[in-house]
Amino acid sequence: MNNVVKGEAVVVTGAAQGIGYAIAQSFAAMGRRVVIADLRGSEEAACKLGHDALGFDVDVSNADQVDAMMAFAAEKTGGVSVLVNNAGIYTTLTKTPFDEITPEEWKKVFSVNVEGVWYCCRAAARYMKPAGEGNIVNIASAVVSKGTPGFLHYVASKAAVAAMTRTLARELGQYGVRVNTVSPGFTQSDGILAGGASRDQLREDIRRQRAVQRDISPDDIAGAVTFLASSDAGMLAGQNLIVDGGITMS
Ligand SMILES: NC(=O)c1ccc[n+]([C@@H]2O[C@H](COP(=O)([O-])OP(=O)(O)OC[C@H]3O[C@@H](n4cnc5c(N)ncnc54)[C@H](O)[C@@H]3O)[C@@H](O)[C@H]2O)c1
Repeated sequence: MNNVVKGEAVVVTGAAQGIGYAIAQSFAAMGRRVVIADLRGSEEAACKLGHDALGFDVDVSNADQVDAMMAFAAEKTGGVSVLVNNAGIYTTLTKTPFDEITPEEWKKVFSVNVEGVWYCCRAAARYMKPAGEGNIVNIASAVVSKGTPGFLHYVASKAAVAAMTRTLARELGQYGVRVNTVSPGFTQSDGILAGGASRDQLREDIRRQRAVQRDISPDDIAGAVTFLASSDAGMLAGQNLIVDGGITMS
């Protein structure tokens, strides 16, 4: 983890549960100082995590709240060395034909999944650029390459995230900041498991499509994220690591 600066914050958004919490756990287990930034329950989740983790309730679609959260992280730890943009609207969405999605729902998905990423990157860059190092990992989705029907707003929002990663990597690379994407396949997160039996058939169908024919756990995604933020991935920038058990191959 040489690329991750000493005691400085590893900010993980949407980390009170699900994939984000697993990512926070992985960094904490490596001795990193994690800041859990979620809509609610952030401090409780940080307490549960232990390892001196901190929590800060924030709506990532609100730029002022994001600035305050990042300032808190930097002030408490001395800087921000890693940002994982994991918060996203997905598990609460209902499959809807593209011509029945309301403009309100479209805007809500984009405000969190796209603008939220932009606000967090902007706020983190204020600390990473002067430090001359840092890592940003954006969580997109394997649906971007699959073109999954029924989620046009979500698929478009995650395509935007993957594209933003490439531009951000070029703009921030000169400051020693690497930016990459992890695109999970269907993952058994808290939000997905809350859907219960209604998702069992989908889970089975997707499992059979994989080269590695098992469920994807949040820890599988966390492994890819911590790798990209480590010095082992020191020459990876603007890349998209698709963690879907080998449905998508390149
Ligand atoms: N689970 C999957 O199959 C899967 C697949 C591909 C990508 N993803 C992506 O992974 C990420 C995590 O998904 P998950 O399955 O763990 O979801 P989840 O629903 O279990 O957790 C999402 C977390 O994000 C938080 N969040 C939502 N809106 C927020 C906001 N405005 N500000 C701050 N926090 C907010 C929620 O409170 C929640 O704690 C999402 O970006 C999702 O799109 C998930």
